[in-house]
Amino acid sequence: MVGVIIQLEDAWNYTQSDRDIEIMQMYHETAKGLNIDLFIIIDKTTKGMVNKFPADLKCETYKTLDEALKKYPKYTKLYFEHPNAVSTKSITLDELTHPKDNVLYIFGGDEEGLNITKLRKDEKMVSINVSTYILWSIVAMTIALYDRHIKTK
Ligand SMILES: C[S@@+](CC[C@H](N)C(=O)[O-])C[C@H]1O[C@@H](n2cnc3c(N)ncnc32)[C@H](O)[C@@H]1O
Repeated sequence: MVGVIIQLEDAWNYTQSDRDIEIMQMYHETAKGLNIDLFIIIDKTTKGMVNKFPADLKCETYKTLDEALKKYPKYTKLYFEHPNAVSTKSITLDELTHPKDNVLYIFGGDEEGLNITKLRKDEKMVSINVSTYILWSIVAMTIALYDRHIKTK
């Protein structure tokens, strides 16, 4: 299974207003269009997520990233962070060879990012080296999944 993990925060919660629900629909359509079969949401918001994804994509919600990762212990974890925000050994997206299966593409929240300081053997930190501008996580996700699409076909 190929999965994506995104994180919702109060500051950019994507959960309550019509505009936020539309952004969640964009995540959903993009993930589906780029052949993802598992969508995981880490819901750190106080009020909780209103939008529910349609049942055409396996969708799971957790309160913490650790809780979600425990469910997929054998999966390769690919963490994505802007080059200026990485504090571990990292590779660029160009250098990444995408695992065929059993992989999670993990993105930080739009306020806090990921803050990963240590990587295990089955984990990689990846940065998209486009500019000094920090991308929205939905944009980083789209670029990463399109890169997967073109490199694995
Ligand atoms: C808006 S950014 C987080 C910004 C956060 N305030 C910070 O300064 O680290 C949201 C997420 O998008 C992804 N992202 C943004 N730009 C990226 C880049 N150039 N390469 C890889 N991932 C990126 C990362 O997963 C990041 O955690």
